[in-house]
Order: sequence, then C-alpha cells, then structure tokens
Amino acid sequence: MRVVVLVSGRGSNLQALLDARERLPIELLEVISNRPGVQALHRAEQAGVPATVLDHTGYSSREAFDQALGDHLEALQPDLIVLAGFMRILTPAFVRRFRGRMINLHPSLLPKYPGLHTHQRALDAGDREAGASIHLVTEELDGGPVIMQARVAVQPDDDADRLAARILPLEHQMLLQVVERMARGEIQCRDDQVFLNGERLEHPLALAG
Ligand code: GAR
Repeated sequence: MRVVVLVSGRGSNLQALLDARERLPIELLEVISNRPGVQALHRAEQAGVPATVLDHTGYSSREAFDQALGDHLEALQPDLIVLAGFMRILTPAFVRRFRGRMINLHPSLLPKYPGLHTHQRALDAGDREAGASIHLVTEELDGGPVIMQARVAVQPDDDADRLAARILPLEHQMLLQVVERMARGEIQCRDDQVFLNGERLEHPLALAG
C-alpha cells in the first residue's frame, strides 16, 4: 500500500509509522508538511523518507493551497493519505478528490469534541473517559465514520497535558493497527463508508492489545 503522511508539527505518530514500516506491507512515499522547520520533517529526513514543505502561508486562499497540495499528492498516486497531526481544515473539493483514501487521527472519542482543545473539553464536561479516534475523512470536519478508538479513564488529578500524554502512545498503536489492517485489505474504505472483511463497520473497533 502506497502511503503519504501529512503533518504540521511534532510528528510522533509519523515516527511510529517510520519505526514500524519495515514490518508493515506499506511503502512510505513521502511526508508533506504545511509548516516549514517542524520536527516531523526532521524525523522523515532521518529515516530517509522524502520530506516536502508546502507552506500554506504562500498561497492566496485555502482553495489555492488545497489545489497545489492535491496536485502534488495526485502525482504520488497514494493508496492511503494519513493525516497525522495535520492541523488544517481541508476544502470539500480536496476531500472529494481523495475520497475513501484519507484517514485522520483525532484526539477525542468522536463524535464528541471535533475541532480543537479536545482533552480540556472532555475534562470541563466531567467525562469519565477520554481517548482518540481514527476516522475516514469526509467533507464534514472530524465527522467521517470512525474506524478505531482508544479509551482511557480520566483520573481525578488529570489536566489536559497529563491526559494527552497518556493517550498519545495509544494513538501510535492505533495508527499502526489501522494502517496494517488497511494494507492487508481487511479494512476497506469506499466512498464515505468503512468495511471490515466486506461487512459495513457499524461501530468503531477498539484498540487491540
Ligand atoms: C495528535 O495527538 C493527534 O491526535 C492530533 O495532533 C497530535 C499530533 O501529534 N491531531 C489533531 O488534533 C487533529 N485535529 P504528533 O504530531 O506527535 O503525531
């Protein structure tokens, strides 16, 4: 499976993929960042994976950036585009162009808390559980069908940073499990739907192990 990873910052999820790529049936074609100088780019370079910057501040509009990003991606012919800490909203036209081929990591138990500051919002709401989701990207922001979720219990002394630190390693594991199962054809995405062994996935999978 030909994989491209889109990033905007730290790139710890990217690192999990880089570390596991030898044992996964995938080819990591390229890492693309919309921000120059970020740690994720260094991680790609260290691992010998091509790293490209498409700086969104150099484009006159969201549409113009998405057009350039889309043209760049299309030339790579990826089977899967992983949004791993990619902190930009994508236009519907862009999403349609790569429909069924994009997954996003999101740090909440979707459909709860799309958008930003997810862990703080879970704490403010008094939630007893928090977590992260991997979902298929559709035109609705953080709204596509959820493929897998990882959950943790909220502890009385949690703050957003502590919660994030506990959830992050689970995101890494979840990303590897989803990518591997997609590469093996067990999980398939068509249009805006997710299938597990040919059956439509009705509920998110739970992180295994
Ligand atoms: C991850 O926690 C991911 O869930 C989140 O950004 C972090 C990236 O970490 N994504 C979003 O908030 C997307 N809206 P990383 O750069 O170390 O992989």
